[in-house]
Amino acid sequence: MGVESGKAERKFINLEEKTVSNTMTNAKTSGAEPSNSKILEVRNLKTYFYTHEGVVKAVDGVSFDLRAGETLGIVGETGSGKSVTALSILDLIPKPPGKIVNGEVIFDGKDLLKMTTRELQKYRGNRISFIFQDPMTSLNPVFTIGNQLMEAIITHRKMERKEAIRECIRLLSMVGIPEPERRLYSYPHEFSGGMRQRVMIAMAIANSPSVLIADEPTTALDVTIQAQILELIDKLKTKTKSSVILITHDLGVIAKYANRVMVMYAGKPVEFSTVDNIYYKPLHPYTMGLMGSISRLDEVEKGKLKSIRGVPPSLIDLPPGCAFHVRCEYTRDYCKKETPPLVEIEKGHFVSCYRAKEFKNGSFKDNKQ
Ligand SMILES: Nc1ncnc2c1ncn2[C@@H]1O[C@H](COP(=O)(O)OP(=O)(O)O)[C@@H](O)[C@H]1O
Ligand code: SF4
Ligand SMILES: [Mg+2]
Repeated sequence: MGVESGKAERKFINLEEKTVSNTMTNAKTSGAEPSNSKILEVRNLKTYFYTHEGVVKAVDGVSFDLRAGETLGIVGETGSGKSVTALSILDLIPKPPGKIVNGEVIFDGKDLLKMTTRELQKYRGNRISFIFQDPMTSLNPVFTIGNQLMEAIITHRKMERKEAIRECIRLLSMVGIPEPERRLYSYPHEFSGGMRQRVMIAMAIANSPSVLIADEPTTALDVTIQAQILELIDKLKTKTKSSVILITHDLGVIAKYANRVMVMYAGKPVEFSTVDNIYYKPLHPYTMGLMGSISRLDEVEKGKLKSIRGVPPSLIDLPPGCAFHVRCEYTRDYCKKETPPLVEIEKGHFVSCYRAKEFKNGSFKDNKQ
């Protein structure tokens, strides 16, 4: 598309608000470049919920790898299976109604999904940890911040109380809590939303995890605080040499912090590539829709962002064939029969669309319905 990577300004839509949310450059803020070594591998994950209404196929064949030092963005509309994918990694799905019906999560050469709950406890909050959207639901209101942080440390590390207190103070100051010696004795309600999220981050990094999973970490916060928290996560990622899975519906956030992106639709990855490919050369009509690129491809309404027509399908009763076909502008009859597989169209660029090659070489224009 002739846009020089790293220099262009981009406009983004916020999938929740369906508005242009912000404009920023795509310069990554953290210093460390990711390597090619895989730190985590998810293979053909399927997580279903067995409800009275039917089987909700929340995650239905998700595969991806996370590389050392990278931030992998997961993006998609609400209900596309982002959180369930993340929770399945550490088998944190509510059972019933949920069940991981298939898949492997390979970490340190072992399949986490084959482990007992006891074995998994050694990984949860230790080697792999979570930052959730709403710290109030994760922090216990009746215990002090210090108490809860200490608990996070001593569950996984042998430490004298005095040493643990010193460690808590170090962690709180690392996440930017002023007067950490004093704030250690505060209760969660005495903190602002932003400060509580900082405490959650301190807990998440307490044991220097290899993988940090941040699921919409700033959605509940106001815009200025959001930016500070995202910067903090990005800085700590470099400092603790961890890899991050960043889940968000904000495409601006993905562009700024992610190295690679997995776009999810109806429980499946529909496109997976580098952030530059996803933004400048999307090859799946859903991603194009998110980026407002359908209009760019058609050379009409240039520069205008379009919202994607229609609504996501019910995960209980998915349409046959490509799940996006009812909303897609490029649907052909064959799209309605079989689900398109996720195929590597060009190096490192995976797309689940029968017409991706046409989009790549530009021949789709002659074939548009
Ligand atoms: N406990 C549950 N019981 C039934 N359905 C669930 C449960 N948790 C999630 N789901 C369903 O799984 C699908 C994916 O949810 P989720 O991963 O939370 O979406 P996202 O994070 O992308 O917004 C949704 O249709 C949601 O309704
Ligand atoms: S497979 Fe067909 S319906 Fe699905 S996204 Fe591609 S063109 Fe659209
Ligand atoms: Mg979610």
